Amino acid sequence: MGADLDALAHSILKENDLGGYTIPTKGLYPYQWNWDSVFVAIGFATFDLDRAWQEIENLFEGQWDDGMLPHILFRKNDPSYFPGPGVWGTKSDPFPTSGHSQPPVAATAVRDLFEQSSAPENVSRAKTLFPKLMAWHRWWATYRDPKGHGTVAIVHPWESGRDNLPDWDEPLSNVDTTGVPEYTRKDTAHVDPEMRPLKQDYDRYMAILTIGKACGWDATEVVEKTPFLVADPAITMILLRANRDLLVLAEKLGFQKDKAEIEGWIAKQERGMETLWNPEIQAYVTRNLRTDVLGAGVSSASFLASYAGLSDPKVIEPLNAHFDRIAGKVEFMLPSYDPDHAGFEHKRYWRGPIWAVVNYLAARGMTEAGDVARAEKIRQDTVSLVERSGFAEYFSPEDGSGAGGNSFSWTAAVWLAWATPSLAVNKAA
Ligand code: GLC
Repeated sequence: MGADLDALAHSILKENDLGGYTIPTKGLYPYQWNWDSVFVAIGFATFDLDRAWQEIENLFEGQWDDGMLPHILFRKNDPSYFPGPGVWGTKSDPFPTSGHSQPPVAATAVRDLFEQSSAPENVSRAKTLFPKLMAWHRWWATYRDPKGHGTVAIVHPWESGRDNLPDWDEPLSNVDTTGVPEYTRKDTAHVDPEMRPLKQDYDRYMAILTIGKACGWDATEVVEKTPFLVADPAITMILLRANRDLLVLAEKLGFQKDKAEIEGWIAKQERGMETLWNPEIQAYVTRNLRTDVLGAGVSSASFLASYAGLSDPKVIEPLNAHFDRIAGKVEFMLPSYDPDHAGFEHKRYWRGPIWAVVNYLAARGMTEAGDVARAEKIRQDTVSLVERSGFAEYFSPEDGSGAGGNSFSWTAAVWLAWATPSLAVNKAA
């Protein structure tokens, strides 16, 4: 079974490879996505290190002059997707992109690839990417912490990568949709509408996008004018972790002069996470920077604390209690949202389903922190989900069924890099 699934995972990555870059899945997501590509690189690295580097190098071809790395790269027009390049209206050199970013996992992956081989070619590829990573992380620090809290503010739910989270409902309720031009969705033509966001949410997504476009996607102006400005614990923790990895790269690759700046970001973000702790529910939540309202639910973001290197028992113990409570409630871990919360829906996009990539990040952090039991629970559940439902985009935590797109690249990638039982066999050999 394991070997067959490994072979299938390989073939999915190959089929979704459009020549140096990989799409998440055919039809639903026909372009290069930011954090998808980074997970894909980690998957490729298990059998083709050169191709793994190429995926990240090609991703950075889309980097903007101000350092921003966009969430979608529209390398060639594909009418099966909405909103496409014309709707975003960004500059088109060397190709059009979306207008905001996505979770910055890349520095962590670059460190992984760098540490895989000491060959000169490997070192030089990491060296070439380092200044680009530095520019991207500086962009977050410069433009996306308008209150100086030490957290990352997102300007659109899509920037979080957790597009339809119940925590976005409160900030989205303040978005005026009256000026939104007519549009036709394409996602619901590919996937059951029950698994996708509601029309009301989509209208708000389009309203925010229209405002960003009117700002010419200028980083300062977008933050000033967007009606949706929310500090996101998942992106902040992913960036905090990525900064720790960037610091190691700076040391090992000889970028000594950059170290103090990175150390400053890390210290600030460690403090910033305190502003996202909700003492009432004892978990990390979102903070609406327009209204100062804290999110009220436990999302899978909270379980990235160890991944971010946060280790205070005052935080880890209550989070472990949440983990154990949730594990007693659902068949499979980690649901993207608390099954005890009214906003939970087991099959609707980011309102409950499990994403294998979030499982991978959470389990990686737990393993590093010595919590092998919880990490193994997550890994074994991921194995069961894939065995049962294949390489789906996401999975129901209640019945394990697959949802969203199929033959999904990042699910296949983290299978190869982390979940597959054959890794344990190889390690033991
Ligand atoms: C959805 C997800 C996002 C992902 C994209 C492509 O929009 O919410 O995180 O990057 O699909 O897989």
